[in-house]
Amino acid sequence: MKKISLIGAGNIGTILAYDISRKNLGDIVLIDKVDGLAEGKCLDLSQSLAVDEIDLSIKGSTDISNIKDSDAIIITAGIPRKPGMSRDDLIETNFKVMESIGEAIKKYSPKSFVICVTNPLDAMVWSLKKITGLKKNMILGMAGILDSARFKFFLSKLLNISISNIDTMVLGGHGDTMVPLLDYTTISGIPLNEYIKSNNINEKEIKKIVERTRKGGGEIVSLMKNSSAFFSPAVSAIEMLESFLKNQRKILPCSAYLDGEYNIKGLCVGVPVCIGSNGIENIIELNLTKNEESQFKKSVLAVDELIKKCKKLLV
Ligand code: NAI
Ligand code: 2OP
Repeated sequence: MKKISLIGAGNIGTILAYDISRKNLGDIVLIDKVDGLAEGKCLDLSQSLAVDEIDLSIKGSTDISNIKDSDAIIITAGIPRKPGMSRDDLIETNFKVMESIGEAIKKYSPKSFVICVTNPLDAMVWSLKKITGLKKNMILGMAGILDSARFKFFLSKLLNISISNIDTMVLGGHGDTMVPLLDYTTISGIPLNEYIKSNNINEKEIKKIVERTRKGGGEIVSLMKNSSAFFSPAVSAIEMLESFLKNQRKILPCSAYLDGEYNIKGLCVGVPVCIGSNGIENIIELNLTKNEESQFKKSVLAVDELIKKCKKLLV
């Protein structure tokens, strides 16, 4: 059995544990700093396995040393956004959380594949990479799959087309500057631009969807008030996890450490990567149109600003 550790037993951590157990992906360790929270949730979840007749070990604890020798770790620990807050407002608090978790990963499980979900996403992935010293292929962040799923959902509603016919990708930082790639969006293989022309769809409607995607996280926070999205972030992280555990070699948009790709060095930004049993098997460099390239550069600059703040917090 593979060992999967989930750090953070809040909204996303709970759905992760539930879905990983139902997919029977491996034994689960759930960690949270709140006394009894992870233990209680794991006891409940373990008892639910008896109903579905699944044999798995699920252990909850406040003691992070339980992550020892994990195959994979997903981090959701930290604080989420409240209405009116941007993801970037979380930086100082969540950096401290990454510091303590990063040190623990370095000590107890330095060879695991690590997926970060905590916001501000790209800056937290960068910080974790620095603190853990993990190789660049073994750490990445979840955002692009979620952002692409939102874009896909909105498009499917507008075009009245099955979501399964839509292929798209959202790149760049996980913030309001993210870049939904219209030129890489297809409807059953037909380029979006061609599709909307032949079906008389107003381009303004597409622009509205792009904006709604960029603000998709905030829309949910303003509705729920005390929490941010959790179903879609959890299933998005599991798609990455499964591709690693089963060597599926899926190409997925994820925040990865760039070492010259896209002419970027030393930053973590959302790009398409192939995930297999070696973690990031390779980073796919797309030819972007001038417009998309300039949007991507703007997004990278926004990420760079946040990473600069983390660099100051590191010393
Ligand atoms: P939550 O508040 O429900 O859960 C966070 C949990 O982390 C809490 O139970 C808390 O006790 C725990 N925690 C805090 N510090 C800890 C530490 N040092 N060690 C162990 N546990 C610790 O939050 P939720 O909704 O699960 O979100 C988690 C994070 O994911 C937030 O930062 C949120 O902004 C982010 N997020 C990222 C998305 C993405 O696309 N990357 C999408 C949605 C949320
Ligand atoms: C989201 O996109 C808040 O990053 C979080 O839902």
